[in-house]
Amino acid sequence: MARIGVLTGGGDCPGLNAVIRAVVRKGLQDGHSLFGYRYGWAGVLEGDGDELTVERTAGILPRGGTILGSSRTNPFKSGGPGVEGVRAGMEKYGVDVLVPIGGEDTLGVAARLDAEGVPVVGVPKTIDNDLKGTDYTFGFQTAVQIATEAVDRLHTTAESHNRVMVLEVMGRHAGFIAAHSGLAGGGDVILVPERPFDIEEVCDHIRRRHDTGRTFSIVVVSEGATPKEGTLSTTGAEGKLDAFGHERLGGIAVTLESEIEARTGYETRMTILGHVQRGGTPTAFDRVLATRFGVAAAEAVTAGVSGKMVALRGADIVTVPISEALGDPKTLDDKFFQDAAVFFG
Ligand code: F6P
Repeated sequence: MARIGVLTGGGDCPGLNAVIRAVVRKGLQDGHSLFGYRYGWAGVLEGDGDELTVERTAGILPRGGTILGSSRTNPFKSGGPGVEGVRAGMEKYGVDVLVPIGGEDTLGVAARLDAEGVPVVGVPKTIDNDLKGTDYTFGFQTAVQIATEAVDRLHTTAESHNRVMVLEVMGRHAGFIAAHSGLAGGGDVILVPERPFDIEEVCDHIRRRHDTGRTFSIVVVSEGATPKEGTLSTTGAEGKLDAFGHERLGGIAVTLESEIEARTGYETRMTILGHVQRGGTPTAFDRVLATRFGVAAAEAVTAGVSGKMVALRGADIVTVPISEALGDPKTLDDKFFQDAAVFFG
């Protein structure tokens, strides 16, 4: 029987609590005990956390966020405490296996720990859905639902004022949220990081709509979308880096608002959806996926597995090496984008 240490790292997303609840329920049924570290790797390093019980995790299935808290702390940051710091945080509470729930950064730490002999079973998480190794991550579908509702709502105000509306959604390296919500909401142009855009082409789509009698347009853009090199200078929150060296994004919609209005003459407004996409209750799909991930993670611990993460493949939950999720992000399928592009302009 093991003592399992659970933690949530990186940006939060709806469904984290459903995973925690499921690991706890299945883990206890399998005879393990569970400990929850606070604020991701920070809690492990600082020895901060609490016992996880059925009572402590009751009622959290539909709750967004994470009852454990999250952070972007990196134990392997240069000068950081590394594996020894993690071992100390485990020994303090008698933890012998870790279940980190997180994205590429958290799982990257998990893979290094496994290589150093620390038992780990990962649970993949990203709102952006850009982790390789799994078909989908929980939270993504909730974000798409929220973004689609935003597109629907922007439609009615856009048509009342004959405006172009630019909606910026999350998606650092991949345009899954933009492409799915743009397609579901009937966006007239969708811009994603995988395909640098030409601002004149964007304006042409909008002009074509207006030339054929439509009086408004909706542009859905990923925060990580960029113009083709040398075509446009952009503004944003550049320069700020987190502990894993990622730049803070956001603000491409600001540039698009002024450029589209100046080039087409159509009044343009932008909305940055931001963290609204990561907040609130998970959809039923995400609750189910997160719960299945949590149960599978506890089962993997019982089976004595390490260095693996749970994953969705087709309709099945499987375990795959954590290394499958690391490296280049998963990006949008070209055919999917082309299907969405049928409705541009
Ligand atoms: O990586 C997930 C994500 O939501 C990205 O889409 C976004 O760029 C980033 O996190 C925002 O991070 P933070 O919440 O730390 O500002």
